Amino acid sequence: MKKEKKFGTLCVHAGEGTDRLHGAHTTPIYQTSTFVYDNAEQGAARFAGEEDGYTYIRVAPNTPTHAAFVNKIAALEGGESGQTFSSGMAAITAVALSQLEKGDHLITTEVTYGSTHELFSSILPKFGIEVSFVDTRDLEKVKKNLRRNTKMIFLETPANPTLIISDIKELCNMAREISALSVVDNTFATPRFQRALKLGADVVVHSSTKYIGGHADLLGGVIVSSKEFIKCMTPFVNTTGATMGPHEAWLCARGLKTLHLRMEKHASNAMKVAQFLEAHPKIEWVRYPGLPSHPQHELAKKQMSGFGGMISFGIKGGIDAGRKLLNHVELCTLAVSLGSVDTLIQHPAYMTHANIPREIKLKTGITDDLVRISVGIEEPEDIIADLDQALASSS
Ligand SMILES: Cc1ncc(COP(=O)(O)O)c(C=O)c1O
Repeated sequence: MKKEKKFGTLCVHAGEGTDRLHGAHTTPIYQTSTFVYDNAEQGAARFAGEEDGYTYIRVAPNTPTHAAFVNKIAALEGGESGQTFSSGMAAITAVALSQLEKGDHLITTEVTYGSTHELFSSILPKFGIEVSFVDTRDLEKVKKNLRRNTKMIFLETPANPTLIISDIKELCNMAREISALSVVDNTFATPRFQRALKLGADVVVHSSTKYIGGHADLLGGVIVSSKEFIKCMTPFVNTTGATMGPHEAWLCARGLKTLHLRMEKHASNAMKVAQFLEAHPKIEWVRYPGLPSHPQHELAKKQMSGFGGMISFGIKGGIDAGRKLLNHVELCTLAVSLGSVDTLIQHPAYMTHANIPREIKLKTGITDDLVRISVGIEEPEDIIADLDQALASSS
């Protein structure tokens, strides 16, 4: 029975069964900082990379709990291997700094999560790395920005918070043609709805704080790629030490067991909420990749198998009306972050993307009226009723 398992089965079973010693059914939390060797020769062989096994928690593959999480997410993304990190930002920083050096050039989606923008605009240039922020919806623009020294194309799609979509297949092909690395932040879509490696990406990164954990109770990051790539990152990872804790690794692996069910509910709820918002007289515009009104709905249909749980919308009356709406929600929670079982609502221009200079925010669509909602898995009628009453109080 060697048939490839379906996604939901992989969510439940992939990476499990690590505790052969005691036969624990679920993966234990290996809450240990160091590992014991049978003898000095074995310890030396592990450090020399001549024998597989664990040595010290900062050193990949960290602990069996981390390995269980990595094996599960790698199976779901269709990758060979992976590496965990203390946060999504630690994962993105590690990919960038381990692969780029002085004189290299990076092309990035111009709209990304605020701290990713900060990393690319303020920190990489300090190391002599050149960065171009490009509207990656426009393939011709990306082509024009390619340089002799372009070594990486970084895509966040759907992008936070404008939900613009970049064509993963075309852009990863472009990167391959010039031997640049293609990296996709798959945090919003998750492998349930977008398989970036299958579309040609070299590396997938996630903030596992979001849908992977799924319950707003941890901070973590993970990358998935080929065995060769993960191996080439290992010295950087082991030395810089942005290590995920064993409890977080366990929470991430446990979160993934229900990823398929949660994502389907997030997405079906989000579609209903988006349709409600689109029909509401106080709403100016709605961006949800599943709506035919999304300018890249056709591309979303092509490269995604579902549209996720994130919606952005503009409220008539701009910032004041937006603030009133946020101040009147009762069921929805006024908080940043996303991908939790409960619905979270926030104001990106003044919260998650506050650090981006105003003129760049306005140029890239992070306007004052933009409200972002991470639709949870409550019953959709209750989410809609809450938004309806909050909108009634917001004029
Ligand atoms: C798309 C995206 N990538 C990366 C991150 C950073 O993740 P973390 O907060 O786990 O560092 C975030 C955080 O919101 C995000 O939305």
